[in-house]
Amino acid sequence: MNPVTLIQRLPKAELHLHIEGTLEPEMMMMLAQRNRISLPYGNVDEIRAAYNFSDLQTFLDIYYAGAQVLNKAQDFYDLTSAYLKRAADDNVRHVEIFFDPQTHTERDVEFATVIDGIDGALQDGQSQLGITYRLIMCFLRHLSAEAAMATLEEALAFKDKIHAVGLDSSEAGHPPSKFASVFDRARTEGFLTVAHAGEEGPPAYIREALDLLKVERIDHGVRCLEDPALVQRLVDEQMPLTVCPLSNVKLRVFETLGQHNLKRLLQRGLCVTINSDDPAYFGGYIGENFLRTQQALNLNDADIHALARNAFTASFLSEADKQRHIAEVDRAMISL
Ligand code: ADE
Ligand code: ZN
Repeated sequence: MNPVTLIQRLPKAELHLHIEGTLEPEMMMMLAQRNRISLPYGNVDEIRAAYNFSDLQTFLDIYYAGAQVLNKAQDFYDLTSAYLKRAADDNVRHVEIFFDPQTHTERDVEFATVIDGIDGALQDGQSQLGITYRLIMCFLRHLSAEAAMATLEEALAFKDKIHAVGLDSSEAGHPPSKFASVFDRARTEGFLTVAHAGEEGPPAYIREALDLLKVERIDHGVRCLEDPALVQRLVDEQMPLTVCPLSNVKLRVFETLGQHNLKRLLQRGLCVTINSDDPAYFGGYIGENFLRTQQALNLNDADIHALARNAFTASFLSEADKQRHIAEVDRAMISL
């Protein structure tokens, strides 16, 4: 069976996607002009040439600078619409996307502006492209717990539009424990929780995310293999890991895709999913992440099938919707 055809045809869910990370250089230039913002780049080639990262922090510095072109609700709408159209080409049926309000409110862009633009595009994407969605608000972990708590309080007015909270940005030195009380409050308010852990940070951060933040999923989590007892726990709990292979290579978590541990994670019985993280910066959307990983790690049909099923299982969809999508995944496997 041709893996390229199989991967293209499989219905997909994307669970680890930063909407600010879908800002393609062309849109960055267009929004800079529209909002009269000067960029340190003359053209899109210069922007792309700057995307040479040595670790998470060198990426984040460029990523936060790029996000400054996003100012009006229309900007957030255009960004989100472009992502959804691209995702539809990869046969994505459901998305759970992150946004970082603090990246924008710190620049005096209103919380409501960000939400209106993103949520408007998600609603239109559902009616026009049939892509269902959940929105996840991330706290920037390099900022204080007090700032995160203030952001959570601001988000309460938009509770109907935000399904879960997450934790992203510079991992090393900012353990999940720093945000335990913020996540306690978030859960009390009815939000589900996820957290980036074990991308650059140690397995202990994954344990903290489980024990203190009571997460439903671990974002990345690839460093869990350094701690066999933790792996056993993740297997027993079937705790989903939202793995982002091309991101991990661009940010030098792994030297090459061939050295990525995704196949080992799968073989160990973990609930692994494939996602694109920040596709405009890392060289590929979800389909490309599937394809390149399949080729680099020689994933077989059963591996691809498991990855596609896991994404729906690990989603925040209702049980009935999960089963409907999974049945469609199974049919796509058989009909080839
Ligand atoms: N924000 C955007 N992408 C991220 C990543 N891969 N890790 C942490 N924070 C992020
Ligand atoms: Zn991420």
